[in-house]
Amino acid sequence: MASTPKPGRIGVFDSGYGGLTILKGILDELPQYDYLYLGDNARAPYGGRSFDIVFDFTRQAVEELFRRGCHLVILACNTASAKALRSIQQHVLPVSYPDRRVLGVIRPTVEAVGEITKSGHVGLLATPGTVRSHSYRMEVEKLCPGVEITEQACPMWVPLVETGEALSPGADYFVQKYIDEVMTQDPDIDTLVLGCTHYPILLSKIKRHVPEGVQIISQGDIVGKSLKEYLSRHPEMDAKCSKGGTVEFLTTENAESFDGFAQLFLDCPVSSQRITL
Ligand code: DGL
Repeated sequence: MASTPKPGRIGVFDSGYGGLTILKGILDELPQYDYLYLGDNARAPYGGRSFDIVFDFTRQAVEELFRRGCHLVILACNTASAKALRSIQQHVLPVSYPDRRVLGVIRPTVEAVGEITKSGHVGLLATPGTVRSHSYRMEVEKLCPGVEITEQACPMWVPLVETGEALSPGADYFVQKYIDEVMTQDPDIDTLVLGCTHYPILLSKIKRHVPEGVQIISQGDIVGKSLKEYLSRHPEMDAKCSKGGTVEFLTTENAESFDGFAQLFLDCPVSSQRITL
């Protein structure tokens, strides 16, 4: 009889810091589990990279988290979810890790958006890579037929956050620019999705430039709730996730820089370890 595997932490992967906004949402919903966060800061941002590169980098990160005992990994990065998740689920897991699971952030976001929009017109704000992949559009067509989605790339938003300029007065120019562009393309939009993990850091400015009555959807809460549902629907996976209420952080860049910047996302002290992928 096969022995039950040792429970492991839930892996949370992002290209860098942004996934911490997702981790925050997950921790609010499911504080009792153990988590291992990995940020590939040395190679971030992923947003402008090709499919092949995003797949290779994401696969390396997922395999590292598996080696460290995770049975379940969340791709807390829209770009990795858009460009690597499907290939990992279809080609890597069945061959090499049949009992492990990797989940992304796009599907739960689209499911939630389908329930929120009243006009049936939704705007997506995301990195150029996520927009080019049309992953949101494909999920919307599958899960919410009849909903119209307008995809808007916001290439300056991640750099604004990464350079610590998110709250500066100059940031307003680029925040307004992309919101105006998407609303001009479809003035009937009543729901705007922040389809990139960094964007909640710009939320106070985004709110200022969004027309009244338009709802803004951040992913942290949605992914937290969806993971909770997933674990209750999959007790066999739940049993493989350890429950000690701990969080550890790994980064591929300098640990001190990670710790300093991570506090901006998490609002609490962080102590990470540097690793090489
Ligand atoms: N985490 C990425 C995402 O959600 C944004 C940062 C990057 O481009 O790597 O798309």
